[in-house]
Amino acid sequence: MANAKGKTPDIKFDFNNMMADFIGAEQGITDAELNKTRNLAIAAHSNVRLNRGTGMMGWTELPYNQADVVSDIIATAKIVRRNADAFVVLGIGGSALGPMAVFQALCHLRHNELSKRQRKAPKFYVEDNVDPERMASLLDVLDLDKTVFNVITKSGSTSETMSQYLIIMKMLKERYGDKAREHIIATTDKEKGNLIKIAKAEGLKTFYIPDGVGGRFSELCPVGLLPAAVLGIDIKELLKGAAAMDKRMRKSDFKTNPALVAAALQYVAINKGKNISVMMPYADSLKLMADWYCQLWGESLGKSVDLNGREVFAGQTPVKALGVTDQHSQIQLYTEGPFDKVITFISVEKYRNEVVISDGAEEYPSVSFLSGHTLNELISAEMEATEYALTKKHRLNSRIVLPFVNAHTIGQLMMFFMFQTSYLGAMLNINTFNQPGVEEGKNATYALLGRAGYEEKKAEIAAKPAKKEQYIV
Ligand code: PA5
Repeated sequence: MANAKGKTPDIKFDFNNMMADFIGAEQGITDAELNKTRNLAIAAHSNVRLNRGTGMMGWTELPYNQADVVSDIIATAKIVRRNADAFVVLGIGGSALGPMAVFQALCHLRHNELSKRQRKAPKFYVEDNVDPERMASLLDVLDLDKTVFNVITKSGSTSETMSQYLIIMKMLKERYGDKAREHIIATTDKEKGNLIKIAKAEGLKTFYIPDGVGGRFSELCPVGLLPAAVLGIDIKELLKGAAAMDKRMRKSDFKTNPALVAAALQYVAINKGKNISVMMPYADSLKLMADWYCQLWGESLGKSVDLNGREVFAGQTPVKALGVTDQHSQIQLYTEGPFDKVITFISVEKYRNEVVISDGAEEYPSVSFLSGHTLNELISAEMEATEYALTKKHRLNSRIVLPFVNAHTIGQLMMFFMFQTSYLGAMLNINTFNQPGVEEGKNATYALLGRAGYEEKKAEIAAKPAKKEQYIV
């Protein structure tokens, strides 16, 4: 889908409807307000630029520094594709949402329901919960002989993922003995955590999550690249798309750096009381991209203290929506409810299919007017109509435009969001890359289930006030 010059077009960020010219002075952002954030945005840009590739910003270099690992991934994926009928990711959070989002964006929307010949890749499952019914039902549909599992955990100790690993490994060992290792691939930190030790002891094929790449920033390393390659996705193109977006991040100019202006606009919006960020793609293929965005935005920016230790309770609540589906569910609230949201649409200029609406019901003009149009026209018209209705009601909204959905534009889109999040985190002066709130819950789980070393935490939990019967009905 390259243009005449052989280049895939850039995705675009259209923020007309964030501005006072379109939304009105009371809710909209004025040029003066945007200009006032310029210095802060420039400082955030230089902070991100200076720190790229260091600390927890290793993800910025992933498009450039993985040649060897990409070859290994492609070779491994080839073997899996040849032998397996199902590929199952065991992981949660950043170790699951990226693989799911990329699968949905770039594979057939009914991938698992296609015949093996049609799908040309194993069926794909991502088990990102420990609901016992879900695990039992997965085991009901898998043919273990033809299944490869990919256990993914950066910390190597997440209870959910390690529980799944234990269940699956025992089953594989009972059935295949030493050959169990042929059914499981580990993706984890090179040194830290338990999974790496287990993987070495069991002789598992292992891919490493590079230093400085945290869970929600890990889609472009083996966490996401191995599942994508198994599914037949062109991972080199995904990385090329990410590199193309990275190049647009070089300058601290609102006119050329889309993620920087997008971050600055959200910063102004937050200061105007817009505490909710709605991500609303108009494409089923991008539905789970909104889920991935929600984790990135929520976990990165939701912080109680800033870098100086001052209490700030920063963040903007991310909400996922789907066009047109949620026009019949949430849009009423977005159009007429509190003025506390920024809605970001993701539009696709050219869908991979065109479906014509058939003739019929000629005696009912209010139905037959649809005939001859395409579903493509309908979905685009509905998006434009919703954008219009929101704008008319003074609701901040913007649009990310994808020329089409392919590996290159998905690489661009994910890099756009990771940079936007990092710029906004720097503007808010918070640590974008930690997740103390998640760790607290993880540690409490260890304590409740009796992990050694967590006795103090267990005592702390036991000392919490007992629930009162009077408040339970
Ligand atoms: O973004 C993050 O760091 C988290 O959401 C993690 O991805 C999630 O908690 C899973 O952690 P791990 O990969 O260590 O199992």
